Amino acid sequence: MTIDLIVENGLLVFPEGVVKGDLAIEAGRILAIGSSTAFPRAERKVDASGKFVLPGAIDTHTHFELPFMGETPPETWEQGTIAASFGGTTTVLDFVIQDKGGKLMDAVRAKVERAGKLARVDFSLHGCFTDFSDIRSVVAEVKEAVEYGISSFKEFMIYKKQGWQIDDWNLHIVLREAQKYGAIVGVHAENASIGESMIDKCLEEGKVEPVYHALSKPNFVEEEAIQRAVGIAKFACARLYIVHMSTKEGVPLVRAARAAGLPVYSETCTHYLTLTDDVYRKPDGINFILSPPLRKKEDAEALWHGLDEGSVSMVGSDHVAYTSDQKKKHSKTFAEVPNGAPGVELRLPIVYSEGVQKRRLSLPRLVEVCSTNAAKMFGIYPRKGTLMPGSDADVVVLDPKLEKTIRAGDLHMGSDYTMFE
Ligand code: URP
Ligand code: ZN
Ligand code: ZN
Repeated sequence: MTIDLIVENGLLVFPEGVVKGDLAIEAGRILAIGSSTAFPRAERKVDASGKFVLPGAIDTHTHFELPFMGETPPETWEQGTIAASFGGTTTVLDFVIQDKGGKLMDAVRAKVERAGKLARVDFSLHGCFTDFSDIRSVVAEVKEAVEYGISSFKEFMIYKKQGWQIDDWNLHIVLREAQKYGAIVGVHAENASIGESMIDKCLEEGKVEPVYHALSKPNFVEEEAIQRAVGIAKFACARLYIVHMSTKEGVPLVRAARAAGLPVYSETCTHYLTLTDDVYRKPDGINFILSPPLRKKEDAEALWHGLDEGSVSMVGSDHVAYTSDQKKKHSKTFAEVPNGAPGVELRLPIVYSEGVQKRRLSLPRLVEVCSTNAAKMFGIYPRKGTLMPGSDADVVVLDPKLEKTIRAGDLHMGSDYTMFE
């Protein structure tokens, strides 16, 4: 018998620890772990001496081909997922946003068809309801979506002007229904009333520069929404996760909820861990406009601490590959700039570099927050998120000695800039 591939001499990284060992791979699955001397002969061998071998990273938060605020990034599912794989991400969880007057499931089927043709890595989808005019239809669609294979929903507590906002009562209904069928709901936690009124106030006062994106949505805007979402989830007896959490106030709120026995989780993003709101004063400040806004160094440090201790369990990229021209086209005021920035390719390398290399995270914890926890949360473990026999052979070989300078021109994403250059 000959098998497809052996990855040998690497340091295999599991959430439980690191072991030296070899991987035998056959037909896209891990056949065995151990010593290659005990494996059958292989068609191909990869020598991973001096390198770490990780389960493929899972990006919990991408938006490929997202039409939002008047622009759709030119990057296709194909280009975006090729970029993902260059950065060690082998599964992406993208979002399907219901059209007003349309059915979520129609959008799900359309996206599965499109991504199914183009995606070069595995994918799954979070469902996002935006039309609550017929709540019975939403209730029916939660069940239908879960039966179809959707294991999570994301609801927007802000973006009233964009027509995506959910109110507290409807959030409670989606939470309750999702829980009934075993799915989890994530929330984009920003207080719409305060956040959007502050934006209007800035505009009225002629404060239109990118820095007002951050100033109009201070930490309190996220803090209040997290607090409210946790309360609503408790009332609905439902699991909840806070999507793209950005603040130092969010971390203790999630920690306290978990300490009280509530099933509350959170995700942060690469940019909240590594960038601060100073960037909004740069000439290309519009390129950093995303929501929630970038924060301060103390917020980033609190998020690293949360990742290490467990109150933050996942890192997503919140990838939206707008080009700088698309951003510029809408730059009359900060409020019109399409929100989002590219990042799918750099998430794992940056969390490794800034987290593991700078001793904020252990290597096993890196695997948990970039892969295993997401697999468990979204129902794809142990097929994904680990290197056990029977798991998909989504394998990343990471060279800890490789040093690279990030330059937009060297990357594979569809945008012409990166926030991390
Ligand atoms: O600014 C962002 N994050 N854009 C994408 C939509 C979202 O809220 O995730
Ligand atoms: Zn969001
Ligand atoms: Zn997002």
